[in-house]
Amino acid sequence: MTAEPVNTTTPAAPTAPVSSDRPEDHVIVLFGATGDLARRKLLPGLFHLAKAGLLPAAYRIVGSAPAHSALSDQEFRQHAKEAVRQFGLAEPTGKSWQAFESTLTFGAADPQDPEPLLTAVQRAEQAIGGHPRRLCHLAIPPAAFTSVIGMLGATGLARDTRVIIEKPFGTDLASARALNETVHAVFDESQVFRIDHFLGKESVDNILALRFANGLFEPVWNRQHISHVEIDVPETIGIEGRADFFEKTGTYRDMIVTHLLQVLGIVAMEPPASLSAQPLRDEKAKVFHALKPLDPAAVVRGQYDGYRTEPGVAPDSQTETFTALRAEIDNRRWAGVPFYLRSGKSMAQRRQTVTLHFKKPPRHMFPDHAHTGPGAERGNALVIDFDDPGWITARFLAKEPGPAMRLGTAEMTFRYADSFRRRHGLEGYERLLLDAMLGDQSLFTRSDSIERLWEISGELLAHPRPVEPYAPGSWGPKSIDTLIAPHRWYLPDGN
Ligand code: BG6
Repeated sequence: MTAEPVNTTTPAAPTAPVSSDRPEDHVIVLFGATGDLARRKLLPGLFHLAKAGLLPAAYRIVGSAPAHSALSDQEFRQHAKEAVRQFGLAEPTGKSWQAFESTLTFGAADPQDPEPLLTAVQRAEQAIGGHPRRLCHLAIPPAAFTSVIGMLGATGLARDTRVIIEKPFGTDLASARALNETVHAVFDESQVFRIDHFLGKESVDNILALRFANGLFEPVWNRQHISHVEIDVPETIGIEGRADFFEKTGTYRDMIVTHLLQVLGIVAMEPPASLSAQPLRDEKAKVFHALKPLDPAAVVRGQYDGYRTEPGVAPDSQTETFTALRAEIDNRRWAGVPFYLRSGKSMAQRRQTVTLHFKKPPRHMFPDHAHTGPGAERGNALVIDFDDPGWITARFLAKEPGPAMRLGTAEMTFRYADSFRRRHGLEGYERLLLDAMLGDQSLFTRSDSIERLWEISGELLAHPRPVEPYAPGSWGPKSIDTLIAPHRWYLPDGN
């Protein structure tokens, strides 16, 4: 694959999909089919996969929900159509929609009465014929995991089934361990796909390609050359009416312990022996084991002004809508290199970036006055913007044209949007749904890794500092500047 410089007129080379495998025939059971995640991501994502010809030759999608919110097949199809219309990339019309819609059926399930679901799954399997595989996606609130997993075990639905479990996986070490025990009482770890949709993002996956498919970056990807790393995911949205979920969860559990620390695992890992699931997940786990327990004094918890008056939020809520922290990886590659993580709601911009800041050259050859322009105080940086479609910029100094030796900040940028044909581009969820159907666990979280992340969070969760207020539309509480000193946050001034 060849990347192109921006603004070129040369057409990009076509690229092959990462995997050209098509999954075996499948019955996909979508628990939480009437919920927010199914509406925003899963139903539109499944339709996109169908349109792209990436779903199995024969498949059925059985929606499920507790009996009190049961739908008829027809209502479920209508629900899916509206979801695709509102959140999908392609309009739900024409032959492709009709074909997709005809695969949708609904079966309500309560732990005491799973019959309607069992009947719907049986019908779907008969309609396909042979021995289709089964994938259960638990797009349900964490509080419902235990009872649904128990039901899958009791009804036999768990047998030979793969199961996708949504985050957050537990709320602390004890609950994650308990949940793992519940899961392992019914499923073998090889059947379990703990999903973190950031790991399905094209540009996060590309970090592996950037590091390990090239000779250019890996030699400097270490403490000899890098002074500090930022993983920065500000969001402009608030809690979007999810007070019930958010009050119990907060940004640390919703974003940091899942998404941002998972990205850190990819950025910091040693080269795996291969890209297959075990070596890749082993290397990520090693990074988590080398992470020092988080120090509550190196964590800023923020709450945007106005959060406490949102419907469903306690007037004295101490739930954080913002977290910034310093993490340290105690191994030979990273000792002494701080990793700064930040994420929050109602912030100034939506961005998803990893920034590697490089040390200054050892010899100061150019006079100070040679470089006094914008960004003068910043060193070289490699910025990976992993929000779809994603881009990577290398920031460095160059000589400004003219008789004097004056330096200006220059950059080289690779943009996915301009550089490859995006025919096969998939959203995070789509990629991961496909991987789960193919049985590829590489990008899913393993039980030991998730437990380790809760383990390093112990002190922080037991002794959280009070939340500090910040203005909506800002970059967080003031104390984040002290947290990162003597450095400065790359955003917003770095752009
Ligand atoms: C979800 C969180 O997992 O990720 C949300 O629950 C967050 O709070 C979202 O907004 C961000 O995902 P995306 O797809 O916008 O990158």
